[in-house]
Parts: sequence; C-alpha cells; structure tokens
Amino acid sequence: MLKKQLDYIRKITDFEPEIALVLGSGLGDFAQEVRQECVIPYCDIPEFPVSTAPTHRGRYIFAEIQGKKTVIMQGRVHLYEGYSPKQVVNPIRLARLMGAEKLMLTNAAGGIGEHLKIGDFMVLEDHISCFVPSALTGENDESLGVRFPDMSEVYSKRLTSAICKAADKCNIEIKHGVYLQLHGPNFETPAEIRMAKLIGADAVGMSTAIEAQAARHCGFEVCAISVISNLACGISKTPITSEEVEETANRVAPLFKKLVREAIGNF
Ligand code: HPA
Repeated sequence: MLKKQLDYIRKITDFEPEIALVLGSGLGDFAQEVRQECVIPYCDIPEFPVSTAPTHRGRYIFAEIQGKKTVIMQGRVHLYEGYSPKQVVNPIRLARLMGAEKLMLTNAAGGIGEHLKIGDFMVLEDHISCFVPSALTGENDESLGVRFPDMSEVYSKRLTSAICKAADKCNIEIKHGVYLQLHGPNFETPAEIRMAKLIGADAVGMSTAIEAQAARHCGFEVCAISVISNLACGISKTPITSEEVEETANRVAPLFKKLVREAIGNF
C-alpha cells in the first residue's frame, strides 16, 4: 500500500523533503504563508485515509521553509473518527518514504499542569500513549522498523532544544511537559483529569503520541509542540467546547507560525 502511494506521489513530484511538519487544530493556515511548490490532496492518493474533522483539510504541501525542504501535512486523521491505528499513521510513514528525516508535530491540547495557562506553547518532553492502541498494532513491516522499538527518547533533545532556541530569539516563552493521548472524541471527565495529573500528564489531547510512536519506529527524529487551547475539564470552571479550542489556536496562530518557521531554520 505504501509503495503504491509513493509511486502515485512520485508521478506528481520528485520533491524530496528533509523535514515533515504536521499542523494541528486551528493551526492549518500556516500553510497559506509559505511558497507552495506542490499540493497533493489526500483524497487523490490511493487507499489514503481522508479526515472527517471539519477543520482538518487533508493534503500534503511541499514547500521550502527557511531554506529547508519541507512536506507539510495539513490536517490529520484521528482514532476517534474510526480509523485504525495503521490508517492514522499512514501520512507519517509516507512522508518518511518520501525522504523526510525530521518530524515536527503540533496540536492543541488541554492544560493540566499548574505551570500551564491558556495560550501557552508546550514542547513535549515525553508522552503517555498506553490508553490508546499502539500505532504498531498488527503485522510488523520490517522495511519500516523493528517489531519492538525502543521509546526511551521519543522527542529528540536536539530538536527540542532547537525549538527553545527559536523561542528565545522570538521572545516567546516555552513550557515543557508530558502529553497524554486519550481516544476522544468526548472531552474528559474531571475524574479522568485527576487521574491524568496523578500519572504525570501535563497536557491532554487526542492525537500526536500515536504519530510520534510510528515516526520513531520508522526512524524519524521527532519533536512536538502543543498549544494549550483550554484548561482541562475540572481545572476549567466552564464546560470545554471545540469553539474554545479553535478560538485560542487561531488567536495564538501568528506567534505559533513565527516559532515554527524559526525552529525549522534551526533543525
Ligand atoms: N482534551 C482533549 N483534547 C483536547 C483538549 C482537551 O481538553 N483541548 C484540545 N484538545
């Protein structure tokens, strides 16, 4: 399947990215600000998963960012849409086969840690993914990676420090923390968030960890940033809505775009 998909891509472009970038909720318009060399909608790629989430337009955008050849994934698919783990990580694996070696993941997340406030940027130091099925469920494709991959440094210290340096230069404060992926699509209960805090989570969301898992399996160097779009259930005094998540993501988008651009220049 991946081979067929790569053949399709190669009929359209011979662009060989060095970097892959996944744009999360409300952050998709970064792609409008780069010079796009080629765009491939996911729905044109054979057997490719197409997102049902309203704000996730699915396509690969090939562009140069700060002189670095980058494939941008605008829109992602989620487990809560009913896709299998394998389908969810298909875009990541295909980006790797295109030649990308470094991956930056972004998302909107609910803040749990007391050091986090709405609108903060949090670099992921680690994740907890054991409440959702592994990206590597099913037969192992040995051409991608080993059956039992090590996960002791999912988020590269080198790339993370490149993000922090970029943030310093742009005068943007960066928080650090552990991301917990839950299945969704419902937001959590207060009891679930109390549990999340007890087990060491600083932020919660419905994506990213599974992608990071697949990315490490197939040899990507990975980093990730969450935009804290809301305080998690029970910490927030008001019910959580997807409108709040999007409103915050849109509000911080200009700073976020500056940070991503500068960070990619440092990779
Ligand atoms: N919970 C889960 N996913 C999220 C949240 C949240 O509070 N905010 C943004 N994505």
